[in-house]
Amino acid sequence: MKTNREGFNSSIGFVLASAGSAVGLGNIWGFPTQVASHGGGAFLLVYLIVILLLAVPALYAELSIGHKGQANPVSSLQQVLSPRYRLGTYSGYLNLLGAILLLSFYSIVAGWMLAFALAAVFKGVGLTDASQWLTSNSISRNLLFTLAFVVMTAFVIMSGVKEGIERWSKRLMPALFIMLIGLIIYMSTLPGAAQGFKTYLVPDFSKISDPHLVVAAMGQAFFSLSIGVGSMMVYGSYLKKGESLGKLTGFVAVLDTLVAFLAGLLIIPALFVAQAAGANIFSGGELVAEDQLIFQVLPELFDTLGGAGIIVSALFFTLLSVASLTSTISATEVPVAYLTEDKNQSRSKATVIISAIVLASSSLLIFNFSSLFGLVISLVTQYQLPLMGLFYFIVVGWLWKSGNKLHDAQTSPLLRNYLKFVCPVLMTIVFVDVAFFA
Ligand code: PHE
Repeated sequence: MKTNREGFNSSIGFVLASAGSAVGLGNIWGFPTQVASHGGGAFLLVYLIVILLLAVPALYAELSIGHKGQANPVSSLQQVLSPRYRLGTYSGYLNLLGAILLLSFYSIVAGWMLAFALAAVFKGVGLTDASQWLTSNSISRNLLFTLAFVVMTAFVIMSGVKEGIERWSKRLMPALFIMLIGLIIYMSTLPGAAQGFKTYLVPDFSKISDPHLVVAAMGQAFFSLSIGVGSMMVYGSYLKKGESLGKLTGFVAVLDTLVAFLAGLLIIPALFVAQAAGANIFSGGELVAEDQLIFQVLPELFDTLGGAGIIVSALFFTLLSVASLTSTISATEVPVAYLTEDKNQSRSKATVIISAIVLASSSLLIFNFSSLFGLVISLVTQYQLPLMGLFYFIVVGWLWKSGNKLHDAQTSPLLRNYLKFVCPVLMTIVFVDVAFFA
C-alpha cells in the first residue's frame, strides 16, 4: 500500500464531503415523496426512529472499517478482517460493483435534473423549442445528459481528494443549503402552502402501524446515508487517524436528516400549492407517482408563477443537480480509489476507466429502460444496501482482527453490545421483510 496516500485536510472537509455523499436525490426527491405517500408526519416519525436505531450505527460501522483500514474498500476489508475470514474480504469487490450499479441509474436521473435546470434557463431567454426538447423524454437527451453528468463527476474526481472532492464539497454544500432555504421561504408565501405544512408536520397516527412504513423508512434511511456501496468507507479512510469518528458520524447524520426534513418543508407545501393552482396531485385517492410529481406537477406549478416560476424552476433543478453531484462523486471515488491503490493506475486513468464503465452501463439502462431501470434500482436499494449494512455490523461486531477495537464504542459496553447483538438481529428482520414482503 502507498504510504503517501492522500486524505482530507480537515474534519470539516470530511463532514461536508460525507454529508455531500449522503444528501442527494434520496433526500430532496425520495424522502418528501415517501412522506407524502405514507401518511405525512407519521413517516417522518418512523424515519427518525429508524435513522437513530439502525442507520446511524450502520454508517458508523461502515466509516469505522474505512477509518481503521485507511485504504479503499477492498483493501480496508482485507486490513480489518481477521485472516481467518479471507472469504469476507472478497465482499470488498461487492462494494465496487454496487457503486457502479448505483451510478448507472443515479447518473441518468441526475442528468434529468440537469436537463430540467437548463430547460428553465432556455425558457427564460426565449428558446422555447430547445427547452421543450430538454424536458421531453428521449434517448438522445438521456444519453447526452448522463454523459454530461459523468463528465462533471470525473472532472472533480480527477483533481484529487483535497483539491477535488474536499474543495468542491466545501463550495457546493453551503450553496445547496442556501438554495433550499430560499426556495422554502418563497414557497411558504404561496396559497395552499399552509395545508402542506400541516400534512407534513401533523402525523396521521392511523398510518403508523402499517408494516410497509417501517420497511420503506428503512430503505430510505440506508439509501439516504449512502450505506452499502463503500462510499462512506472510502471517505472514512480519508479521515486522519485519531479523529473521533463517533462524533463526526453524528454530524453527518444530522446534516443529512436536516436536509431531508427541509426538503419536505419545500416539496410537500409545493404539492399543495400546485393543487390550489388546479393540478391533480391525487389519482384514485393515491398520490401520483414520484416521477410525475417532480417532472410534471412541479413544472406545471412553476409555469403558473410566471417570471418568478422560471427562476424558481432553475433554482430547484440546480439544487437537485448539485445534491446529485456530490453523491455521484462519492460513489465514483470507490472504484477509482481501488484502481489507484491496488492496481497502480494514475488517478486520471482510473477516472477515465471508471467513467467509461459507468457510461456503458448507464447506456445499457437507457436503451433497455423498461426492463432494466427499475430492476437495477431495486437490486441496489432492496438487496445491496441492507445486505452490506448487515455485513458491516458483522464485521465490526464479530470478525475484526484481534486487537482491533471499535474506537469510540469501546468506551461504552452498552453501545458495543448494541452494535454487536442488537443491530444484526434488527437488520436481519427488516431485510427479510424488505426482500420477501415489501
Ligand atoms: N445518499 C445518496 C442520496 O440520498 C445516494 C447514495 C447512496 C450516494 C450510496 C452514494 C452512495 O441520494
